[in-house]
Amino acid sequence: MTRKQRFDRRSYLKAVGAAATTAVVAGCLDDDDDNVINPGTASGFPPFEFTEDGELVGFDIDLAEEVIERAGYEVGEWTDIEFDSLIPSLTEGNIDMIAAAMTITDDRAETIAFSNPYYEADQAVLISDDADFSPETVEDLEGLIVGAQSGTTGEGQLDELIEDGIVDEDDARQYENYTLGVQDLEAGNVDALILDVPVAQNFADSREVQVAFIIETGEEYGFGLRQEDERIDDLNAALDEIQEDGTYDDLVDEWFE
Ligand code: ARG
Repeated sequence: MTRKQRFDRRSYLKAVGAAATTAVVAGCLDDDDDNVINPGTASGFPPFEFTEDGELVGFDIDLAEEVIERAGYEVGEWTDIEFDSLIPSLTEGNIDMIAAAMTITDDRAETIAFSNPYYEADQAVLISDDADFSPETVEDLEGLIVGAQSGTTGEGQLDELIEDGIVDEDDARQYENYTLGVQDLEAGNVDALILDVPVAQNFADSREVQVAFIIETGEEYGFGLRQEDERIDDLNAALDEIQEDGTYDDLVDEWFE
């Protein structure tokens, strides 16, 4: 699907949405809240979710909207917040679905439900193009200042490095998002960042940074739902359909080189 078509589809949906609102006002339609899914994300994680000319865009945004619509629901308002705030927002009911390249972990699954997996990724160690060191293994990170986004599995890797005595606790940096981390990497304020491979590669293609090596974690991303939300079955069925009919591959082609 081209970008143009995507936007056409959105404006079409907006028009249909407006008509539906009129119908509700006229009392012809049941204004059923269960029909609307308000997704939440944490931008600054290209190409999954980022802002372009003030608009929230990316693979997760398109995939989540497609899944919601195919499942027969309506896409409500997107909320863009810090990654750390997504799970509390979901359980409190401020958002209904997390679409944020979120890795399915046992820890998180104690609090929220995950859809079937929709993407696989490992962790990468990102360094500046100007770096005068070239780490090849985690042991080589000894003595370096290393950062990750708060609440991510990348931060989990960093915590392990601290526990193993490889990185000093005082040399660990937490970022609200990876865009800020990459700025610090380019400015020389941090030596290395740990983050998901596809995002690290995206930054390497567009900024003065490079992937030094990969930590194989075999993570899988899932959409997050409240544990009691029964709509998850419909969303999983829609995800299956999208993966089988080529829509998923089209989105991959569009957002990943
Ligand atoms: N996959 C990693 C995790 O689940 C990082 C996700 C960060 N996502 C984001 N939208 N910033 O912890």
